[in-house]
Amino acid sequence: VTATTKPSIPSTARDGSIGEDQRSLPAESSAPSFPQYASLIARPQGVKAADFSSEGRLVHLITAAQLTPATIDQLSRLADMTRQLSRTRQGINALRAVLSHKRAMLYFTQPSTRTFLSFMAACQILGLTCNEVRDPTTSSEVKRESPLDSIRMFSSYFDVIIMRSPWANFAESCAYLMNELAAAGKRWVPIINGGSGADEHPTQALLDVYTIIRTFGGEGGGPAGKTYCFCGDMGRGRTVRSLCAVLAQYPDTRMIFVSPDHATLRLGDDVLAMLAGYHVEVHQCQSLDASLSGRPLLADVDCLYMTRIQREHNTPDQEQEFGRIDLERFRLTPRRLQQMKPTAAILHPFPRDSVVGEIPVEIDRDPRAMYFRQARNGMWARAALLVHLFGAGDELAALHRDLVGS
Ligand code: NCD
Repeated sequence: VTATTKPSIPSTARDGSIGEDQRSLPAESSAPSFPQYASLIARPQGVKAADFSSEGRLVHLITAAQLTPATIDQLSRLADMTRQLSRTRQGINALRAVLSHKRAMLYFTQPSTRTFLSFMAACQILGLTCNEVRDPTTSSEVKRESPLDSIRMFSSYFDVIIMRSPWANFAESCAYLMNELAAAGKRWVPIINGGSGADEHPTQALLDVYTIIRTFGGEGGGPAGKTYCFCGDMGRGRTVRSLCAVLAQYPDTRMIFVSPDHATLRLGDDVLAMLAGYHVEVHQCQSLDASLSGRPLLADVDCLYMTRIQREHNTPDQEQEFGRIDLERFRLTPRRLQQMKPTAAILHPFPRDSVVGEIPVEIDRDPRAMYFRQARNGMWARAALLVHLFGAGDELAALHRDLVGS
C-alpha cells in the first residue's frame, strides 16, 4: 500500500485545475488538434471555466471545474422540482411546455446508453424536440467536412448541442467557436459536453453529486467532510476525473483511490496535483482489502464509487499485460460489503462489466446500492441543466409553487 497523504502542492495547481495530460487512447490517435484554440485549451481548467459562464450562469458545460457548490445547489433544486412536478399528469404537461420552443441536437460519436438516453428523456420531459447523429459516416464528415464546420451547421438548425466524442478537446473547441460567433453578433448555441475522450464527463459528475446530496442531505450534511473511495480504472475513467474536480471544492473531503499499480490504470498526476491544490487528503491503494491507519479502508468510507476497467482502450500489449492483473482485488464482494458502514452509499457510473462483475448482481438488493437510482437521477439532473442553460429556472420555480406547493 502506498499512502500519499497530502502530497506537496505544485504551484500550477492552486487554481484547482486539471492539467492537459491527455492520456493517449487508441481512439484519440487520429484526433484533430484544433490549433486555432491551442492557446485557450492550454490554460488551467479553473481559468477556462470563466469563458463558459456569463453573469453567474453557465452558457456551456465543458468542464467539471464549472460545477461549483453554489451551481450544484441551484441545479439540485431545479432537478428536485422537475422530479416533483413529474409526479402528476398536470405537472408533466406543464413541464412539457417549459422548453417546447427549443430543439436539441444529440451528437454522440462514441458509444453511450445512459448519457444519450437520459438526455433524450430530459429533452422530452421539457418538451424540447431532439434529433441525433450517432454515426459520423452518415454526416458530411466523410466528404472531409471539418468537425467544427459540422458543429456550426448543427448550430444553424438546433438550439443546443449535446455531444460526446472520443477527442478530448473537441467539445471545448466547439464552445470557443460558439463564443467567437457570439462576439461577432452571429448565431450561437450552448454546448454540453457529454463525455470528451479520456478527459472529462461533467454531466456525469453533476448527477453523481446530485445523488450524493440526495443520499446525505443538502446543507450541513452533503458532500463536505466525507470519505470517498474510488475503485477500478482510475487512469482512463473520465467520470472519476470530473467527479474529483467537483468534490474537491467541498471542504474536508478525504479520497482513497484503489487501482492496479500501473501508469495507465492509476490516477493521473494532473488529478493528484489538482486535489493537492484543494488540500484534499489523498491515499492510493492496490486492493479494496488495504488498511489505512490500522483499519480496513472500507470501514471508513461514506461513498464508494466503483468503476470498470476500460478494456476497449487496451493496446494488444496491454491486453496481455492487464490480463495478468488479479481483478478480484477491485471487486466489491459481499464479504467486503460487510465491512462498510450501514449508512454508506455505493455508486457506479455504469456500464458495469458483466464478466468481471466489479459489483456482483446480488449486491443490487442491498439498501446501500445507489447505482440504479443514480442513473435515474441523471435524467432529472440533465433536465435541470437544460432549464438552467436556457434561463428557465424562474419559470420552473413558478410552476412548482403553483402545482406542488412549498
Ligand atoms: C462512462 C463513460 O462513458 O465515461 N459511462 C457513463 O457515461 N455513465 C463510464 C464507462 O464507460 O465506463
